[in-house]
Amino acid sequence: MLGYVWMVKILILYYSRTGNTEKMARAVADGAKSIPATKVELNYYVPEEDVASYDAVLVGTSTYHHDMPGTIKNYFEEVAVKNVNLKGKVGAAFGSYGWSGEAPKLVLEILKNRFEMNVTEAPLLAKYTPDQAILEECFQLGKRIAESFATKS
Ligand SMILES: Cc1cc2nc3c(=O)[nH]c(=O)nc-3n(C[C@H](O)[C@H](O)[C@H](O)COP(=O)(O)O)c2cc1C
Repeated sequence: MLGYVWMVKILILYYSRTGNTEKMARAVADGAKSIPATKVELNYYVPEEDVASYDAVLVGTSTYHHDMPGTIKNYFEEVAVKNVNLKGKVGAAFGSYGWSGEAPKLVLEILKNRFEMNVTEAPLLAKYTPDQAILEECFQLGKRIAESFATKS
């Protein structure tokens, strides 16, 4: 009998102006990749229509002016305009901030309320440059989400 490996696809989409959220995104990706049969796409852009081909979408975004950056806002507007169906997929958000850190929470609200995604994790935040402890938390976040699919199958 032929066996097959079911690949879980995880998208880590991030915006980072000075590299702080990018460091977090790389650690999240490493955590997800540590689980076998997990395919991870780490990118600042994928075509909006392609988002539906992933099992989980993890958004990394820093906070500017108490908001998510325009790039992230416009991106999810396009995903909505193009009627990309993300219902039931796993969603998470993380990001670096300086003093208020609204962006990941705002993203999670959109994933949950507009796209009806399954949001189970609180936003993960790092003040400015993530230290080793936060990077470990990022790794564990990616790992936990990838693992949640492994235990489901
Ligand atoms: C012009 C400007 C506005 C900012 N506004 C906020 C803000 O409203 N709230 C906050 O928590 N951090 C704010 N920050 C801090 C950034 O979120 C912080 O520097 C973060 O580490 C940037 O991450 P990145 O390198 O991933 O873009 C601001 C930074 C700049 C330069």
